[in-house]
Amino acid sequence: MKDTKILITGANGQIGRVLTDELRKIYGTNAVLATDITKLAVTVEPFEFLDILNHQRLKEIVHDCCITQIYHMAAILSANGEWNPLKTWNINLNGLLAILDLARELKLDQVFFPSTIAVFGQTTPRKHTHQNVPLLPSTVYGISKSTGELWCNYFHSKYGLDVRSVRYPGIMGWQSLPAGGTTDYAVEIFHAALKHKHYDCFLESDTRLPMMYMADAIKATIDLMSTPNENISIRYGYNLAAMSFYTRRNRR
Ligand SMILES: NC(=O)c1ccc[n+]([C@@H]2O[C@H](COP(=O)([O-])OP(=O)(O)OC[C@H]3O[C@@H](n4cnc5c(N)ncnc54)[C@H](O)[C@@H]3O)[C@@H](O)[C@H]2O)c1
Repeated sequence: MKDTKILITGANGQIGRVLTDELRKIYGTNAVLATDITKLAVTVEPFEFLDILNHQRLKEIVHDCCITQIYHMAAILSANGEWNPLKTWNINLNGLLAILDLARELKLDQVFFPSTIAVFGQTTPRKHTHQNVPLLPSTVYGISKSTGELWCNYFHSKYGLDVRSVRYPGIMGWQSLPAGGTTDYAVEIFHAALKHKHYDCFLESDTRLPMMYMADAIKATIDLMSTPNENISIRYGYNLAAMSFYTRRNRR
């Protein structure tokens, strides 16, 4: 049996950093290769620069490092994505397609694709949201992730690729700062309270959004990836929920 060797894209991101640490605790530091387009002061080796759109470099790294699994965390998130829709589509969708096609070609063991509640839209029931509901995403980020889910499902049904996915709600954690997501206000608000004693939230008053604590999101991810293949029935993004809360303005 091959040793597990994991590549994480977008490893310097809010979730990627914590996921990298947790996977290294399980598999050993050298078995988990962190990659991203930037290197941070806190980045722990092994690390490689990798732009997900550089297919040649991606293939070299996967081949040379004997990678068996990919956690594909790199993406442009919802709020930032709206600034440049075509770039967001290119990175989020073509980046994923490069990973899926390489995993098929090199017969990798597993791929993880983080989907999101942004795949839902106005037509989605807001309470007790079932797995198979109408998806009509309203952002290019949501469109790219919902299309990505379909491609994951396709690569599984057509080529038998073991690809797994969850629809994360907004993730809150203390380890890393969020960047560019709609639910990021829930973390930024605490930092702003400490630094500036003030925070202007861009959401409408009384907006209710689903959230999850980082440790629970990481556990869900690793549990899903550790589940026997025959027990996985959905390849396009399992719903994942914890709690929802309101943004309510202080009415003085
Ligand atoms: N954070 C959340 O609340 C949340 C919720 C739902 C889904 N997700 C999904 O989880 C994944 C990780 O989210 P996150 O919060 O860590 O995001 P993040 O924005 O904090 O990190 C994304 C990382 O991707 C990297 N990246 C961007 N373009 C790249 C490229 N061309 N090539 C390689 N790397 C590139 C960035 O440098 C960054 O480090 C994303 O796919 C996101 O869509 C996150």
